[in-house]
Amino acid sequence: MLAIIGGSGLTQLASLIVSRREVVRTPYGEPSGALTFGEVSGQPVVFLARHGYGHTMPPHLVNYRANLWALKHVGATAAVSVASVGGIRADFGPGALIVPDQIIDYTWGRKSTYFDASDQPVHHVDFTHPYDARLRALLLAASVAVGESVFDGGVYATTQGPRLETAAEVNRLERDGADVVGMTGMPEAVLARELELPYAAINVVANFAAGRASSEQGISFDSIEVVLHEAMTRVRCILDRLCADLKA
Ligand code: HPA
Repeated sequence: MLAIIGGSGLTQLASLIVSRREVVRTPYGEPSGALTFGEVSGQPVVFLARHGYGHTMPPHLVNYRANLWALKHVGATAAVSVASVGGIRADFGPGALIVPDQIIDYTWGRKSTYFDASDQPVHHVDFTHPYDARLRALLLAASVAVGESVFDGGVYATTQGPRLETAAEVNRLERDGADVVGMTGMPEAVLARELELPYAAINVVANFAAGRASSEQGISFDSIEVVLHEAMTRVRCILDRLCADLKA
């Protein structure tokens, strides 16, 4: 079963034939909302809206541990994250789709491991390549198959939020090697790794990052909505194809 974690602009999947919803309790508290089970192109899917179905949970308050644990617990064998980002690289403008291959974590104070109980031995997971290579390849192949151009690779910087960055912070992120900036990529990716749940992401550029191009004087929220609405139609198309390929 494929898990899809939807972010801003993707709180439901039109092509998901819903069979049931389930509220899962976890040792880590409540997930962002009920899990929605169903099928896309015959492939079993479980969907979770990362920020809650009413988009009420800011990135720094999402219970990532509960979300990932719940998905694994109900039998997800892989997870695709959809997340909106700000584009730092000049060719990552609004509407661009990226399947990132690396992460830099600037978040703080988030519960970012399952291995912190006092009676547990210390455990370090390998995180050299934070995204699952096979799932990335499947996402890229699905994009090609439906004729959507998607950038293969990029460095995703995770900031704490919920505020957006300053122009100087974006300059620093770029010097660090980041191509896009978002607020939810971590600890989601590492928790999936700790659970041995193959995980990959598709990033939707909602806006140029602060201080860049059309965001030089500030970030316009009106245009973000329009961009996300249009781009999520393309993302759904890619996910539909991914599901059909997984089913085949
Ligand atoms: N910064 C951080 N997160 C984001 C942005 C941004 O500019 N756009 C969408 N998510």
